[in-house]
Amino acid sequence: MLDTAKRHELALLAAGQPWLPALLLAGRVARPIRKVPKLGWFVADPAVARQIYNDHVHFSIVSEGAAGHWWAQVIGDWVEDLFEGPGHTDLRNKVRDLFTLKHTDALVDRVIGPALREISHNLAAGRTVDIAERARVLVGRSVSDLVGMEPADIRALFTDGGCDGDEDEPFRILFDHVEELVNLGIGTMASTTLDPAVLARAQTLATKLSAAVPAAYARADGNTTLGRCRELGLEQDHAAGLAILMAVAGTDTLASCMTRMVAILHDSREQHALLAAPDRLPDAVREALRVTSPAYLVGRSVTADVEVAGRRLVAGEHVKILTWSINNAVGDFKISRDYIPETRQLWFGGGRHLCLGAQLVHSELSALLRALTADGRPFEIVERRYRRKVFIPTYETLRIRLT
Ligand code: HEM
Repeated sequence: MLDTAKRHELALLAAGQPWLPALLLAGRVARPIRKVPKLGWFVADPAVARQIYNDHVHFSIVSEGAAGHWWAQVIGDWVEDLFEGPGHTDLRNKVRDLFTLKHTDALVDRVIGPALREISHNLAAGRTVDIAERARVLVGRSVSDLVGMEPADIRALFTDGGCDGDEDEPFRILFDHVEELVNLGIGTMASTTLDPAVLARAQTLATKLSAAVPAAYARADGNTTLGRCRELGLEQDHAAGLAILMAVAGTDTLASCMTRMVAILHDSREQHALLAAPDRLPDAVREALRVTSPAYLVGRSVTADVEVAGRRLVAGEHVKILTWSINNAVGDFKISRDYIPETRQLWFGGGRHLCLGAQLVHSELSALLRALTADGRPFEIVERRYRRKVFIPTYETLRIRLT
């Protein structure tokens, strides 16, 4: 029997893409690694996943079957160096300090602190808050700031400078825009080679997203990604590409986790355990990341024949690491669950491509949970709707109020 939290999670995945729950649940039988005709190798074992993430001789993120290949078609072949060449190590080293906990905690407090306090205030006053809508705005604001875009840039980009007093509207449009770009990834299971119509749409969306970059690049301070790119002498159009990649990597995934974390805390009744033991908040965040695993599948291509877990993988084949299946095999959401050495933080990938935004994610999810638990009372869900036909499944609406 499925419990309420799992039932909603599976329904949410199905609303995003109907075949997704079946794939991710069946994925467990792929442990450790299993070949599926026409699709390639499915990996459902944490140790094998890490072996692949750490093996840069036999596996690539930029060849057909992996995300870098998709991006190279949309924004140019130069991203291959950004993803896998010396440019990758160089850039990561030089922006590392922007992604430390000290920096991301400060960013969250400055950029979304007021909106989080408003959520606490509204809940305490007995009002209903739509967490799904709030998440889209919070994430849009924080990722834009991280990149080096000011609210005025986003406003100019999406509302011709005006927004009729609704300061959040440009960020809602930003979210929809990024999501449409991400959704073009639907249908890339067998191949990441884009058909001309999809490619044209992806390029149009990417161009729109980067339209504010020249001004921001010239002005952004060194404590932002664009500012750092300028100081490092990275060409402006490459900096624009990086800004798009950041926006895409950090928008849907984080908004999805935020909203689903709140729903799961309610559905599993674990919110009561959290209210009774507030020091377990970091565990609640880690558990939310584990069971939601918004980047549910990560692709790699085989660049040279290699043996993995006793199977022979041949150059040109694809590999799909089933992040969701691996992480969910551990068990249901429990805030009393300690760190699991076996899975570590596989929801953020592994090896040299380990998610750069991991600390920002922790800062943001923690701040949201503190805002929701500030009053000390549990909440109830008064309305929920899943978002339909999306690459990263999430809620369209999740309205909560304190009980
Ligand atoms: C819950 C939210 C998030 C999840 C689950 C997540 C997950 C991941 C995963 C699995 C990867 C590795 C992809 C691969 O190896 O092919 C990755 C990479 C990356 N993520 Fe995240 N991510 C999240 C949020 C963010 C945020 C907020 C940002 C920053 C704005 C971000 C920036 C990046 C970047 C730049 C990379 C590429 C790193 C590299 O190639 O060196 N992510 N993320």
